[in-house]
Amino acid sequence: MTAGIEVRGLTKRHPGARLDRPALQNIDLEIPHRQFVSLIGPSGCGKSTLLRILAGLDRADTGQVSLLGRSPKQASRRKAIGLVSQTPALLPWLTVRQNVALPGKVNRRAGSKIDSPDELLRAVGLEESADQYPHELSGGMLQRVAVARALGLRPDVLLMDEPFSALDEFTREALQYQLLGLWQQRATTVVFVTHSVREAVVLSDRIVVMSARPGRIHEVLDVDLPRPRDRKVVKGPHMHDLEDRVRASLQSAWKAGAAPDDLVPL
Ligand SMILES: Nc1ncnc2c1ncn2[C@@H]1O[C@H](COP(=O)(O)OP(=O)(O)OP(=O)(O)O)[C@@H](O)[C@H]1O
Ligand SMILES: [Mg+2]
Repeated sequence: MTAGIEVRGLTKRHPGARLDRPALQNIDLEIPHRQFVSLIGPSGCGKSTLLRILAGLDRADTGQVSLLGRSPKQASRRKAIGLVSQTPALLPWLTVRQNVALPGKVNRRAGSKIDSPDELLRAVGLEESADQYPHELSGGMLQRVAVARALGLRPDVLLMDEPFSALDEFTREALQYQLLGLWQQRATTVVFVTHSVREAVVLSDRIVVMSARPGRIHEVLDVDLPRPRDRKVVKGPHMHDLEDRVRASLQSAWKAGAAPDDLVPL
C-alpha cells in the first residue's frame, strides 16, 4: 500500500484567532495513494484549514504532513497538488478559457500531459462560456471553472473544498460521475470536503467525520459499496444504511463539539 497522504499529530491554531481553542487538534490520518476520502463535519470544524495545510498554503503548528513522501510545499512545487478552494479564486481580467489554461502555461511539469482547456470546459458543461469573464458567471459556474482548472494539470493529489456546493442537484450528480470517471482513469488521491452525506457516500472509499471546538477526527467510516457506483448501486438498500451510519456519526460529532445551546436542530 503506497502512502498517499500521511498526517501525524497535527495541531493548528490560527494566529490572532480570538478563541483560545486550536482549529485542529491531534489529527492523525493515513490515506493510501489512489483512495477517495471525504471530510464531513460541522461548520467551523477545520476542514478548510486541513485542506490548506495539505496544499502547502498554511502551516501546521505541530505534527508531520506528507504527500507521496514529500512535504506539502515540495509536493506543491512539483505541481503534484490540485486544489479547488471553497471560494473559487479566478483572475477577473482573463476569460474562462484563459483561466482554465493558465496553470498549464505557468506550472506545467516537464513532459507531463495536460488537457486542453476546451476539453476540460466540456467535461464540466461550460463549453459555451469559454469566452466569458468570471464576473459574467453564476456561483455554480465559477465553481465548475475552478474544478476544470484543477483537473487540467492531472495532479497526483486532488484537494477539493465543497466544489459542488453551489450546483443544482442534476448538475451536481453529473459532475460527481465525471469526477469518479476521471479519478478511476488517473492515478489520483482525492480529499473531498462536503456537507452532503449522500455525496460523501456516493463518491468515497472512506469518510472522515470531524467534530468541532477544537476540530478533531471523530470517526472514520469505510464505504463498502461496489464500484463503479452506477445507478443500481446508488439506489440499493445498502446505500441507505451507509447514509444512516454517516448521519448518526455526524450527529454524535455535533454533540461532541458542544454546539451552542441556542443552536439546536428542530
Ligand atoms: N485565517 C483565520 N484566522 C483566524 N481563525 C480562522 C482563520 N481561518 C479559519 N479560522 C477559524 O478556524 C476554524 C476552522 O475554520 P475552517 O474554515 O477550517 O472550518 P470549516 O470546517 O472549513 O467550516 P465550513 O464548513 O463552514 O467551511 C473556525 O473556528 C474559523 O473561525
Ligand atoms: Mg470550509
